Amino acid sequence: MKIAIASDHAGFDQKPAMIEYLQGLGHEVVDLGPASADRCDYPDFADKVARTVAAGEAERGVLICGTGIGMALTADKVAGIRAAVIQTPEFSHLFREHNDGNVVCISGRFTPLETNKKIVDEFLTTEFGGGRHAGRVEKIMREDDPTFSGVER
Ligand code: RB5
Repeated sequence: MKIAIASDHAGFDQKPAMIEYLQGLGHEVVDLGPASADRCDYPDFADKVARTVAAGEAERGVLICGTGIGMALTADKVAGIRAAVIQTPEFSHLFREHNDGNVVCISGRFTPLETNKKIVDEFLTTEFGGGRHAGRVEKIMREDDPTFSGVER
């Protein structure tokens, strides 16, 4: 699978190990930065990964910042992206099975690398469940509509 990955300075330490792990599993990894641990703005890197996935230039995205939160907030705003902060392998499994997530956002400061590897593994190997989940995901992906109240019209 082709995977786009990026971090900010707070996720930078885990990025090389995650790339090596993914390559070891046989994936093609595109590193969208940053190139150093210098302080930087996570939205710039979340946006790059999200747009790469949305354009179909990578099948999935992996983003690492301090908490994962800022990355998720940014990436999820890009049309076609379903991004979330994930802290456990179980949530990662459900993120794929129920939500058809395509960009996983993980914490470089609070989640150990070994846990993050398991999270990413679940993210890449779990199929979307479809069925009852499909219509819900369709609702998530609606264009912003100020008249949409969250229930059927
Ligand atoms: C950087 O200090 C930190 O704010 C960032 O890595 C991330 O945790 C934001 O959500």
